Amino acid sequence: TPLALLMIIAAYLLGSISSAVLISRLYRLPDPRKSGSGNPGATNVLRLGGKSAAAMVLVADILKGMLPVWISYFLGINPFLLGIIGIAACLGHIYPLFFHFQGGKGVATALGALAPIGWDLSGMLIGTWIIALAVTGYSSAASLIAALSAPMLTWLVKPEYTMPVSMLSCLIIFRHHENIRRLLDGEETKIWDKFAKKN
Ligand code: G3P
Repeated sequence: TPLALLMIIAAYLLGSISSAVLISRLYRLPDPRKSGSGNPGATNVLRLGGKSAAAMVLVADILKGMLPVWISYFLGINPFLLGIIGIAACLGHIYPLFFHFQGGKGVATALGALAPIGWDLSGMLIGTWIIALAVTGYSSAASLIAALSAPMLTWLVKPEYTMPVSMLSCLIIFRHHENIRRLLDGEETKIWDKFAKKN
């Protein structure tokens, strides 16, 4: 339907607004694309020294996924297309039109996109992320563990969304390839460490 197509485009464009870059600029913090892990996301903004800036980035990136899916849900768009709209928001965040297609890893935006399909699912994923962070100390490991458990959890509580959620998980895991390398090499920075270790 034309309405769904419009929402897919809107979701991609909204996702393309890099809140990490804009909020870092506002707070006069280093460009998260050039410092720390080089990732424009809440974790790296926190690493670069902005607690409240990081919290704002987290909320903004969650909203980028949540708003388009929620609005589409209330417009009566079907579950299959809601999945596509959520994926479009994450693709905008990861490959932003307005920021030379150099975006983040999609974790917060994906969580936001999942919220409208059920607080049970997003609650379980947030819980998984927090527990994994508490156990490992690595934001990236927590994201990877949550992304790995998402398809199974979705299949248990909202089976009709297993396909789009699995696609999001694949995308997120693929975006963490540098983190996976660092984790295996023992060179990943813990969330409470200020700057990425340089070799
Ligand atoms: O959400 C991104 C997180 O999983 C990793 O971020 O900056 O440590 O690569 P970063």
